[in-house]
Amino acid sequence: MGKKVLEVKDLVTTFRIDKKEYEVLRGVSFDIEENETLCMVGESGCGKSVTTLSIMDLLPGNGRVVSGSIKLNGQELTTMSPRERNAVRGKQMGMIFQEPMTALNPLLTIGRQMTEELILHRNMSKKEAYDTAVGYLEKVGIANPADRMKQFPFQLSGGLRQRIMIAMVMAVKPSLLIADEPTTALDVTIQKQVLVLLNKLKKDVSTGVLFITHDLGVVAEIADRVVILYSGRKVEEGSIGAIFSKPLHPYTIGLMRAVPNVDEDSFDIQPIPGTFPNITEEIGGCRFHPRCPYATDRCRAEVPAELEVEPGHLVCCHKVAEEYGKEGHR
Ligand SMILES: Nc1ncnc2c1ncn2[C@@H]1O[C@H](COP(=O)(O)OP(=O)(O)O)[C@@H](O)[C@H]1O
Ligand SMILES: [Mg+2]
Repeated sequence: MGKKVLEVKDLVTTFRIDKKEYEVLRGVSFDIEENETLCMVGESGCGKSVTTLSIMDLLPGNGRVVSGSIKLNGQELTTMSPRERNAVRGKQMGMIFQEPMTALNPLLTIGRQMTEELILHRNMSKKEAYDTAVGYLEKVGIANPADRMKQFPFQLSGGLRQRIMIAMVMAVKPSLLIADEPTTALDVTIQKQVLVLLNKLKKDVSTGVLFITHDLGVVAEIADRVVILYSGRKVEEGSIGAIFSKPLHPYTIGLMRAVPNVDEDSFDIQPIPGTFPNITEEIGGCRFHPRCPYATDRCRAEVPAELEVEPGHLVCCHKVAEEYGKEGHR
């Protein structure tokens, strides 16, 4: 087993709306090892981005982490001062977003932005920083890197900007890379290039990657392990093999069915019935029960505990627990 880079335990994050506080993450736990890619999957609004923003300490003003623990390389982040947190954020963890312009400064050249990061976070001289930046642009397959260094972000295409963003973040050699739907805005061929590239750079630096996506095709391509999130709770976690060959939670099974099977040329997508709950909605017991074909009184009353059905394969579902003849350990 590799070294644990990130350990998230019982994370609860709330948002204040109209003077009331609502739980968006309801006790989420997962770990990431070095050189491992964990994909977090779930429908839009389930709390994926809020998870990343809680870890990065970039929640909007009305959001806050109220309890739980977030450890990076064994250091507790939730009790750090904003200043310490800021230092950790730039140096030990990096983030790439769906739209790279969110993170790029439109007023500075690519070269200036990359070299400043390297001078600040890797204590490099100007010359070293320049050479390293050019080297990373080459690594991400950018032709004429010296010319690109002189350009401004708006002069580049979306795919190129995303590759530059990856070069910028990985050049700092973070222990943890968080990627929130980084390929969703790109067309399929460029998406594929970006995924291949991320995997390559990850191995170079032994970075742990938290990769957020709602696209199971992308998951199949990049994940070592998968966490399925539903309405602020983890419902299932397992290796990529376990999740694809033996999904157990009715929600995970539903997600799998909702994928069009392009190979067999069949597009009979079966969407999960019902609608995704709003965070302000009170739902007792398992939050999936209103949409679950197997829901019982127990599912309506009691939050299912986490059960380890096989080593590393965790499921939170009363039905699965009963079938396996044992109760969850939490
Ligand atoms: N600033 C905010 N104020 C109130 N609610 C928010 C805010 N940001 C996000 N939310 C809510 O939190 C939930 C989770 O959002 P998010 O993590 O962005 O979902 P996703 O899984 O699509 O990334 C959603 O219901 C969203 O409406
Ligand atoms: Mg999101």
